[in-house]
Amino acid sequence: MYTGRDSIAPFVASPIEVVRKMLEYSDLKPGENLYDLGCGDGRVVIMAAEEFGASSVGVDLNKRLVSEARKKAKALGLDERVKIVHGNIFDLDLSQADVVTMYLTTGANEKVRPKLEQELEAGARIVTHDFSIPGWSSERNLKFREGYRSHTIYLYRWDPDE
Ligand SMILES: C[S@@+](CC[C@H](N)C(=O)[O-])C[C@H]1O[C@@H](n2cnc3c(N)ncnc32)[C@H](O)[C@@H]1O
Repeated sequence: MYTGRDSIAPFVASPIEVVRKMLEYSDLKPGENLYDLGCGDGRVVIMAAEEFGASSVGVDLNKRLVSEARKKAKALGLDERVKIVHGNIFDLDLSQADVVTMYLTTGANEKVRPKLEQELEAGARIVTHDFSIPGWSSERNLKFREGYRSHTIYLYRWDPDE
């Protein structure tokens, strides 16, 4: 049972074209493992599997969104490659991740950062939507207009020696 206190960001979906740009920007390849931390309705993990051939794991506290995401993945026949965990970001093991995506807040990214530093393998890519990771330097940023506002995507590559 999760409470509002466990939540580090509200549900706001990334527009679908932003999701596609995040995945392209991460250079996600078939067979790689993508993790979306706070997966909402599952749009990132589903596109990662459907269009990029990845295996993906999403985690979210919100039971209703988890159930919606699982239903969508099943309807598309992707349930073998898309796993949706009902749980807390901080309890998920990230050691198998090639790519991590996040659309949280700057404060939330700061809280998740030590977990990324402890669990990710060197070379893992992290792509965030609109909010940077305090204390890390991004490899590249992309700012673009989509719909009624502009969006920024940040790409990081985990280097334990940096
Ligand atoms: C801004 S939404 C992003 C949804 C999706 N990743 C996207 O880009 O469309 C953030 C999500 O994080 C989830 N969330 C917040 N804190 C969480 C936590 N501690 N563990 C798991 N999920 C969390 C919220 O329920 C919400 O669905």
